[in-house]
Amino acid sequence: MIPSFICLILPVTTLASTIQPLNYILPSYTTADVTLATTIGHQAYDRPYVHPGNTTTYEWWYFDAISSDGESSVVFQPIMYNVSVPVELLFQLVWPNATVKDIILGSNHRLYVSTRGDGSSGIGMADGGVFSWVGSQDASEYTLKVDIPDEDISGTVTLFRTAPPHVACSETCPDARLDLFWNLYWMNPVPDAVAIVDIKVGSDRLAFTRNGYHDKNWGPVYFANDLNQWYWGHGRASEYSIVWFYHLDIQDHITTSGYIAKDAQILWTAYPIMGTNNISQIQGYKIDFDAGALGRFAFDFRKNRQVTKYSWYGRWIGTMSGGRVAEKNESGVAVCEQMGPFF
Ligand SMILES: *[C@@H]1O[C@H](CO)[C@@H](O)[C@H](O)[C@H]1NC(C)=O
Ligand SMILES: *[C@@H]1O[C@H](CO)[C@@H](O)[C@H](O)[C@H]1NC(C)=O
Ligand SMILES: *[C@@H]1O[C@H](CO)[C@@H](O)[C@H](O)[C@H]1NC(C)=O
Ligand SMILES: *[C@@H]1O[C@H](CO)[C@@H](O)[C@H](O)[C@H]1NC(C)=O
Ligand SMILES: *[C@@H]1O[C@H](CO)[C@@H](O)[C@H](O)[C@H]1NC(C)=O
Repeated sequence: MIPSFICLILPVTTLASTIQPLNYILPSYTTADVTLATTIGHQAYDRPYVHPGNTTTYEWWYFDAISSDGESSVVFQPIMYNVSVPVELLFQLVWPNATVKDIILGSNHRLYVSTRGDGSSGIGMADGGVFSWVGSQDASEYTLKVDIPDEDISGTVTLFRTAPPHVACSETCPDARLDLFWNLYWMNPVPDAVAIVDIKVGSDRLAFTRNGYHDKNWGPVYFANDLNQWYWGHGRASEYSIVWFYHLDIQDHITTSGYIAKDAQILWTAYPIMGTNNISQIQGYKIDFDAGALGRFAFDFRKNRQVTKYSWYGRWIGTMSGGRVAEKNESGVAVCEQMGPFF
């Protein structure tokens, strides 16, 4: 069964001004084993973590934004997980009329990343377009840009953080570490944000202002072979910002992480509980947080739509309601994913 545990969030408070700015050209490969940091500190926290990597390591930056009606969204994800394709940008637009546009900008070129303070910036010149992100020194603001002439797409997404950054905490890492699981490292510089989206596709425009999010994933070995199910999501219900994470490895070992922030303060962290495993059948999720003396929190995610088409990888956008149990339910929007099993 699901182990019950409580752990402290590690507030991410490195001193941005004392961190040396660094430039990286990614990916870079070594034939030696790669040593990965398991705790945070001393270097920018939104940096490349597998540098150099090897042929089994992976790394990505993930950003998203969702509209106030939970009907439209954008995902911007520079990813490196396959030596045959050094860098890809996975870019997704969901229009209010439910049209989903997925663009994969593959590239044999490199990703140029630099850090300043705790924030990162990067630029990728892909076959067919250019993409970039620019983060502020404290990693609280990010501006993403895409320019894809072949598809007549250009635009920006800007995120202003509204909830404090954090790293994972779980059964396997009681002191808030970067390794959520041995093959899954994670941190969350922007658990919630005000997002401003303005993207032009031909003569159409996807423009909205609401919630945004940014996290960072990496690991020593790409996880597909070792994964049974992985659930993740983030959402906002009025003043509550929540992030949840629930991971089952191939032996059904459970690793979880949860986060609730209110009024820009971390309120508590605990674990979420998930439901069915048939992606095409999922209508939503219930996410429960046991906040000890502070009480219980429950949130209910209802999908507006599924925005992926795979049986092994679901992403949904929709609405979320909930709050402290037995108090008034607050409402807002959320993005959820379920991955696996892959085989
Ligand atoms: C890459 O490094 C990781 C971490 O040390 C190691 O587990 C993995 O086996 C290495 N992969 C290769 C192909 O050497
Ligand atoms: C890596 O990319 C190559 C070339 O596109 C593709 O054939 C292969 O299936 C990819 N591997 C994985 C694990 O996605
Ligand atoms: C949905 O909206 C997009 C953007 O305006 C447009 O390109 C597409 O044709 C629309 N699809 C339908 C089915 O109306
Ligand atoms: C999942 O649900 C779909 C739609 O009802 C069904 O066709 C499929 O067999 C189900 N898959 C599993 C593994 O239960
Ligand atoms: C509030 O939301 C929770 C979680 O979805 C639900 O269990 C509860 O019934 C709701 N309460 C009210 C008063 O609507």
